[in-house]
Amino acid sequence: MTDSIASAPTLKGRKIAVVGVTSQVAEPVAKALAAENEVIGAARFRDPAAMERFEAAGVRCVAIDLATGDVANLPEDADIVLNFAVTKTNNWDVDLMANSGGLAWLMEHHRSAEAFVHCSTTGIYKPMGHHVFAEGDPLGDNHGVWPFLATYSIAKIAAEATARWAAQRFSLPTTIARLSVPYGDRGGWPAIHLEMMINGSEIPVHIDAPSVYHPIHEDDIIAMVPKLVAATGVPATVVNWGGDEAVSVEEWCAYLGELTGLSPVLAPTAETIDSVMIDLTRMHELIGHTTVPWRDGFRRMVEARHPELLTS
Ligand SMILES: NC(=O)c1ccc[n+]([C@@H]2O[C@H](COP(=O)([O-])OP(=O)(O)OC[C@H]3O[C@@H](n4cnc5c(N)ncnc54)[C@H](OP(=O)(O)O)[C@@H]3O)[C@@H](O)[C@H]2O)c1
Repeated sequence: MTDSIASAPTLKGRKIAVVGVTSQVAEPVAKALAAENEVIGAARFRDPAAMERFEAAGVRCVAIDLATGDVANLPEDADIVLNFAVTKTNNWDVDLMANSGGLAWLMEHHRSAEAFVHCSTTGIYKPMGHHVFAEGDPLGDNHGVWPFLATYSIAKIAAEATARWAAQRFSLPTTIARLSVPYGDRGGWPAIHLEMMINGSEIPVHIDAPSVYHPIHEDDIIAMVPKLVAATGVPATVVNWGGDEAVSVEEWCAYLGELTGLSPVLAPTAETIDSVMIDLTRMHELIGHTTVPWRDGFRRMVEARHPELLTS
């Protein structure tokens, strides 16, 4: 961590690589940073229309492929690298190689950077009911219960190990930020629940009720990125990253129902992910508090995605 970054409350005039730029989480971050920085957005860009969207917002796009270690199009002299890329193909060979091996290629390529932020997930914690997880708590196959995300938790744990190693190997100041439930106008898990309510689909919740997480609005994600950069260190800083308010799926679906008049159909089951409540002590010390109250954020999400449904 350099003094110039540590003392900077915002990022200005920097050369910033945003990897996985087309992801739900990274897109608003990259576009916001592009207002005052040189931002290079990287992904495979299989959809050329996505490139045009980013270029229009001032983000220079480069194609990379983390599964093959092809990161040469990224500028080696980037000051700061933010990695939001993730592969969820459900193929163990691909997902271990892309999420862990690809990160190794990326951190080696950017070993001269001032700061590297790797986005992880609270989905790496071992399922333990309503335990409140601090950063040193046990890890496990949280998402393995979902057949469509069988590789996710383990590949993300493998990626954290890579990030820890590369931070030390390359003296590359790094933050590993374990994100809870991101949401906003562009979507997220609560937006999927809204769609399920519209379709009348059953929404799985854990039998060990309620199913509690820490939804975090994209405005807070954007605001906290410079602080995650400032918090980078060697060894890597590891920090939980979620909204200040712990909210259950049951609670947020009920609120979406209040806003829209729709009725959620909850289906308690053991075949879904468990609660992941997180201890935010370290987050508050390092990067502060979130500011968007969850009810305000959810209302904005409905307004943006389905204004026709709002009843009040
Ligand atoms: N969404 C959530 O609820 C959630 C919760 C907790 C943590 N997180 C974390 O937040 C980050 C972003 O998640 P997300 O859900 O927003 O991601 P996402 O929408 O699934 O997007 C994944 C990104 O990775 C890129 N990518 C995939 N395969 C790639 C490859 N082989 N080479 C290079 N880039 C590749 C994709 O771009 P192309 O397909 O164009 O290559 C895309 O930009 C991840 O680290 C994730 O683990 C997400």
